[in-house]
Amino acid sequence: MTSAIYECMRYDSSVQALQRVALEDLEVAGIQFKKGTLVLLSLGSANRDPEQYDDPDTFNIERPETGMPLWFAAGIHYCIGARLAMLEMETAVSTLLRRFPTLRLTNLDSLEYQPRNVMRGVKSIMASL
Ligand code: HEM
Repeated sequence: MTSAIYECMRYDSSVQALQRVALEDLEVAGIQFKKGTLVLLSLGSANRDPEQYDDPDTFNIERPETGMPLWFAAGIHYCIGARLAMLEMETAVSTLLRRFPTLRLTNLDSLEYQPRNVMRGVKSIMASL
């Protein structure tokens, strides 16, 4: 279940982007950032980095753990609720599948997403159950 939740978070991250401001002139991966530059970091893109994940656009709940998971960010602002969020998701999905073992999602291709760029999520999955 842990690896299934990891894959869901990797494949379709709830937090798609973060913002940072350069506190000083700096260079990252050959790119120069002047002090004060606002930088938009795409976690959604990093989570599908082909240098970190084989076949990144394929959803695979048995994917071996590789790379640095970024769906809870990294560094000093790493999500303080990551452990709790993982526990909640694992408990909720395990319980749901135990109680409703034949539960299936249908019409996945017609899910409607919230019109937001940063916090990604569907409007409802009820219509798909
Ligand atoms: C699936 C659920 C969650 C996701 C995807 C998530 C994701 C994230 C991400 C990406 C950040 C970094 C923000 C940044 O660097 O600008 C963050 C920070 C944070 N998260 Fe979460 N989070 C989740 C659940 C939670 C929960 C359950 C809590 C609290 C109970 C929580 C509390 C926080 C706090 C306080 C920060 C700020 C940490 C800091 O700035 O030092 N999160 N989260």
